[in-house]
Order: sequence, then C-alpha cells, then structure tokens
Amino acid sequence: MNKPIRIALTKGRLEKDTIGLFEKLGFDCTAVHEKGRKLILPIPDANAEVVLAKANDVITYVEHGVCDMGVVGKDTIMEMKGKFFELVDLGFGKCKFALATKKGYNFYSGYGIKTIATKYPNVARSFFEKKGMDTEIIKIEGSVELAPLLGLADGIVDIVETGTTLKENGLEVIEDVAPISARLIVNTVSLKMRQIEIEKLIKLIEENL
Ligand code: PRP
Repeated sequence: MNKPIRIALTKGRLEKDTIGLFEKLGFDCTAVHEKGRKLILPIPDANAEVVLAKANDVITYVEHGVCDMGVVGKDTIMEMKGKFFELVDLGFGKCKFALATKKGYNFYSGYGIKTIATKYPNVARSFFEKKGMDTEIIKIEGSVELAPLLGLADGIVDIVETGTTLKENGLEVIEDVAPISARLIVNTVSLKMRQIEIEKLIKLIEENL
C-alpha cells in the first residue's frame, strides 16, 4: 500500500461539508468525528489522511507539497494565488465577494480617491484596477463592516453569504465582485507522481457532487 494521500481541509464549515461528501462516497470518517484535539486524521478506506488547517495554510501546505490535495474557498485562492492545480468546484461553501457601502451612499460620485477596507486587499485592488479606478486599500483583520460605520472607509470588499451582517449594520451591496465556493486543489508534483490514485478520487468526487 502506498503512503496515504494527504488532504488539507479548511477547518470549520468546509471541513464538515467535505467530510459529508467523503461519507457519501462510502468512506468511514469516524477518526475525524472523534478527533478531539488531533490535527491529522486517517480515512483508511480512501488510503488518505486529512490535515485540519486554516484556509491560508491549506494553500501553503498544498503549494509546498506537504499535502497532496486541499479543500479551500475560492476567496482564499483569489487572495493568495499560488502554484497548484484548481481541479474541482465542489459546489458547497457558496457565497460571494461584494462591494458594500452604507445604505444610500453614492459611492461612484465625486472625484476624490475612495477608501476601501477589506480582509482581501489583493482581491479589492484587482477589482478596482480592472475598473481603472484609483483607491486606497486598508487591510482590516476583524469585522470589516465596522470601517464605513466608523468613518474609516467609503466602502468594503468582503464576503457576503446571507447578507444579514450587512443588513443589521445599515450597509448594502452595491456591486458583486465574484462568486465563491469551495475548490479542490492539487499539488502539481503530486498530480504527476500519484496520478492514478488522485484521478480516481477526483472522478469519484465528481460523480457524487
Ligand atoms: C464573514 C464576512 C461577513 C460575514 C457575512 O465573516 O466577513 O462578516 O461572514 O455573512 P452573512 O452575509 O451571512 O452575514 P465570518 O463570519 O466568516 O467571520 P470572520 O470575520 O472571522 O471572517
């Protein structure tokens, strides 16, 4: 038996959805359900092991080849880029990147440079560059919605799922930036070295989406 295929999973909701998918494929995921504080868990039926990690780290591990595959949101992929294959849109973890402002604020009026607060500066920069619009981008770590309320920014580029956070804080989407969902990514060398196993797993996943 080859060494297990290592799959990095984004902790939290994507982890749960991915384990749900693996169970649909018939894999016993008991070790993941009973993980306690363990971070590497075997899925023996698939000759795989899952590594639980933060989204940015999923990309780092796959890019460096210490994990063969990964499940991560398109949001993180768009922000971090990196060298790996993005092979499957898993269809879950759906939300979007959007530009939002205080309700009723006319964002595109006037000639002054607009200030944008975001956790995703690369995504925001490239969105406004495509429009040929000069902006000041301010990186925020926590609740970005605070920035326009505090007067720090004219708008935010952030993830919108249900829209509740915006609504409850008097903000509204004025433009969609990009759709987001979970993606299966694969290390470039792993795909060559373990092509048969990886392609078999991907085929099984695609047939069960
Ligand atoms: C995201 C995002 C919004 C919220 C949107 O934050 O930054 O604040 O979800 O969701 P909604 O449209 O359903 O209200 P998240 O909850 O992931 O927490 P974070 O701030 O730690 O990223």
